[in-house]
Amino acid sequence: MIRSVLAGTGRALPETIISNYDLEKIVDTSDEWIVTRTGIRTRFVAKTGSATSDLCAQAGKIALERANLSADELDFIIVGTVTGDMKFPSTAVYVQSKLGAKKATAFDIAAACTGFIYGMDLADSFIRTGKATKVLVIGGEILTSMLDWEDRATAVLFGDGAGAAVFVAEETEEKVGILSTYSKSDGTLAHLLYCPGCGSINPPSVQSIARRDHYIKMSGNEVFKHAVRMMRDSAVIGLERAGITMEELDLLIPHQANIRIIEATQERLKLPNEKVYVNLDRYGNTSAASIPIALDEAIELGKLKKGMTALFVAFGGGFTWGSACLRY
Ligand code: ACO
Repeated sequence: MIRSVLAGTGRALPETIISNYDLEKIVDTSDEWIVTRTGIRTRFVAKTGSATSDLCAQAGKIALERANLSADELDFIIVGTVTGDMKFPSTAVYVQSKLGAKKATAFDIAAACTGFIYGMDLADSFIRTGKATKVLVIGGEILTSMLDWEDRATAVLFGDGAGAAVFVAEETEEKVGILSTYSKSDGTLAHLLYCPGCGSINPPSVQSIARRDHYIKMSGNEVFKHAVRMMRDSAVIGLERAGITMEELDLLIPHQANIRIIEATQERLKLPNEKVYVNLDRYGNTSAASIPIALDEAIELGKLKKGMTALFVAFGGGFTWGSACLRY
């Protein structure tokens, strides 16, 4: 049987860290409000004009080095992002060029915070069907480029960064690599979390800029309710599809959006704290980058070791949601 095995991971962050106290100076908020409602304390913020593809390429390069692979061996580069370098071409082609991955086919996935899970789903399909043997999946965002620093409801939530993972084909009878994937969407809920400006229906204009249409708009409470339900459901379905029991699960790596959403998922799975990876306090919500950054950290810290089983669960604008189960 051909399995998609994780061969290496990496992450890249901008230099600047902004704390809740720094935000207190920009918008009408407080560290106490942000920590209580979200669990976030600091986030990384890229300089204005930075390239998302630079962060992605940096994370991808580290992942390739750890996998002992050179970029020209890659068949596909899949980048999950909603804050790419430009409207077109894809951010993935810039990553391809920066890595020198001449043979690869590179493309983006616009699934917001679920982008990395969708990417894993595709990578697994390509590998299992024999279409590819080596796939680099990246989640990378410079969300602060789309943030309205005058809107306290969104400005405090997001951060920038990139995480990467290389999956390779392995012929084995062992239960290793990607054990299950699950992905869903519901476009009837798109209006609850979106960026209305700069697309075909509302091209950039003096009026659209004045209306601040080029920034993220979010109905926080609605997003919260759906996120809790869909993250919980995705977790249960992901484990069922993988044939893994709660007891066999070693680590839950949830999308890092809000500590209360994470705790609700944890409660549903009845998992102890030590089996749930949380780094949201230091990164904020990095959208598609949040799971691969957390995965890279978890491996580095020895919280995910060879032979252990992890479950990734995500939810994002669209709405999109899903999960992936991996035995490392
Ligand atoms: N600082 C201080 N007060 C604030 C802030 C802030 N940053 N933001 C909002 N408030 C105020 C509101 O104005 C409101 O005041 P009012 O009662 O006088 O009207 C009060 O706080 C309560 O606001 P709510 O929106 O009801 O606060 P809630 O407890 O719902 O928390 C939050 C808001 C944190 C945004 C929550 O709804 C949430 O986490 N939603 C999910 C958001 C999310 O995770 N989005 C991303 C998921 S998908 C993805 O990752 C792309």
